[in-house]
Amino acid sequence: MSKIYRLLFVAGSTLLAIGACREAAMQQSIPNGQIERESVTAVKNGQGGVRWYSKDQISLGAAVFSQNCAECHGIKAEGIVENWRRRLEDGSFPAPPLNGTAHSWHHPTSMLLQVINYGGAPYGGNMPSFETVLEDKEKLASIAYFQNFWTDEIYAQWERMGGTN
Ligand code: HEC
Repeated sequence: MSKIYRLLFVAGSTLLAIGACREAAMQQSIPNGQIERESVTAVKNGQGGVRWYSKDQISLGAAVFSQNCAECHGIKAEGIVENWRRRLEDGSFPAPPLNGTAHSWHHPTSMLLQVINYGGAPYGGNMPSFETVLEDKEKLASIAYFQNFWTDEIYAQWERMGGTN
């Protein structure tokens, strides 16, 4: 019996180690602070602050999103599958809403960009990679577009958690 536990433990730790390395490798490929952003602060956050993106970025993002993302995430980033938490038959997850009702707001910009760049493959998911499909400014604009559906409360919480990193 104890042999089995030990085996499980070793298998579990190996998986954890592989996961950690993969995450570190991905994080290295987009160093924080090197993401170029327009420092336009036209969009007001109802809590007295401003959001990182401009109205122009929302318009560009709307076009990018409708052409590349809406088929899976919904035209207003509301998702197209009611129960996005339930695995599909192939074991992968359906595309979640990005409008602030799921967990995209738990991730800083650098991580959102990683998902856009590399898709779901690193997690065994089905999201395609947009690394060479979109320009960097289009990737950022698509984030501006879906973030603009977030309430001020969610946006402020994301900011407090270091979201703009
Ligand atoms: C073919 C379907 C599909 C398309 C097209 C697609 N996605 Fe996804 N997306 C997914 C799936 C499925 C996931 C969940 C991760 C996985 O399993 O791959 C996901 C996850 C995400 C996440 C992480 C959300 C979270 O809560 O962690 C972000 C951000 C995202 N997508 C943004 C985009 C953007 C921006 C585009 C367009 C440029 C896009 N996606 C296009 C299917 C898609």
